[in-house]
Amino acid sequence: MPKSVEEKKKMRVVVIGGGVGGSIVAYSLQSVADVVLIDQKEYYDIPWASLRSMVEPSFAERSVINHIDYLPKVQIIASSATNITDREVTTEDGQKVAYDYVVIATGHLESAPKTKAERLNEYKADFEKIKSVNTVLIVGGGPTGVELAGEISFAFPDKKLILVHRGPRLLEYIGSKASQMAMDWLTAKKVDVILDQSINLNHLNGGIVQTSSGETIKADCHFVCTGKPIGSSWLNESILQNSLNIHGKLVVDQNLRIRGHKNIFAVGDITDIKEIKQGCVAQKHAHVTAKNLKILMNGESESKMATYKPGWEMVIVSLGRKEGVAQFPLITISGYIPGKIKSEDLFVGRTRKQLGLNPYLDEK
Ligand SMILES: *[C@@H]1O[C@H](CO)[C@@H](O)[C@H](O)[C@H]1NC(C)=O
Ligand SMILES: *[C@@H]1O[C@H](CO)[C@@H](O)[C@H](O)[C@H]1NC(C)=O
Repeated sequence: MPKSVEEKKKMRVVVIGGGVGGSIVAYSLQSVADVVLIDQKEYYDIPWASLRSMVEPSFAERSVINHIDYLPKVQIIASSATNITDREVTTEDGQKVAYDYVVIATGHLESAPKTKAERLNEYKADFEKIKSVNTVLIVGGGPTGVELAGEISFAFPDKKLILVHRGPRLLEYIGSKASQMAMDWLTAKKVDVILDQSINLNHLNGGIVQTSSGETIKADCHFVCTGKPIGSSWLNESILQNSLNIHGKLVVDQNLRIRGHKNIFAVGDITDIKEIKQGCVAQKHAHVTAKNLKILMNGESESKMATYKPGWEMVIVSLGRKEGVAQFPLITISGYIPGKIKSEDLFVGRTRKQLGLNPYLDEK
């Protein structure tokens, strides 16, 4: 990019991915840099709120936010990034976007519609589907499957719910005490939890499916809540191909720069940092990265950059709208306290506020 002599040109920061981390980086830098956001969709869909939206579609009107509403100074390209060279990022719709700095925040691979209206319609369709059936099958007993079971059982206590999980306990990413508490809660709500079994969804026949041990399950509809692949395959033939570890994650240094690249950062689930991946962690990555980019763009010494150290994290899994399970470093609790912290609003008001928006309603 030619630097004009008469005016100090703002540096170009290209943020790739408009999820938890990318939205904050773009928001934090839009006044001090020429920011371009590349995202396959036109909106930020607060991920931990999406399960509530499936049973209460109006919830999505606050938790699905058009990028333009909080990024008025940012150029938004609603297309996927397909490659990166040492000068530019290419997109699926054929654009080449030159950069001074890049932040990669493509988290997990998701198929999402392009517009907010389409996304809201998906939530309405999920809601209608759940409302109209008797039996719902949930595949996967990680945080998504457990929270979805909690949401459905709260909103529709009369539905029959079956949750099938491949592993020996629910919520395997945290401690076994939390697993037991979630199990007890679901069992008390008459959710049929089947552990240590998988399901081949290609053999779903008229709502009847067999588990790996041959047990037969009949359900009117199902939701797949198993982990999604890391969104890094678009990098595998790029200048960053050697920065991917065997799990497809980007290897970053303590400043969250990709090793060996002075002007490329990564935030969120795509990083190889050993910690429990969750939204609040990606938010921290984003704040550290935004700070470091400001330091570099100001021409300050690299030694001033902030470092990111994974700390202990509170993990809360909500169970319906009033209860939850919370794991702290030394203690795990369940019931109304975790529910009070997370389950009522799912941090949606707080997340909107962090992006400069009204927490409760859009006044426009
Ligand atoms: C990169 O990923 C794509 C899509 O997943 C795949 O088709 C391709 O073979 C991969 N290339 C390499 C070099 O791994
Ligand atoms: C990405 O760009 C590199 C050149 O930097 C090229 O060799 C590679 O084939 C490109 N990959 C894709 C998927 O277009």
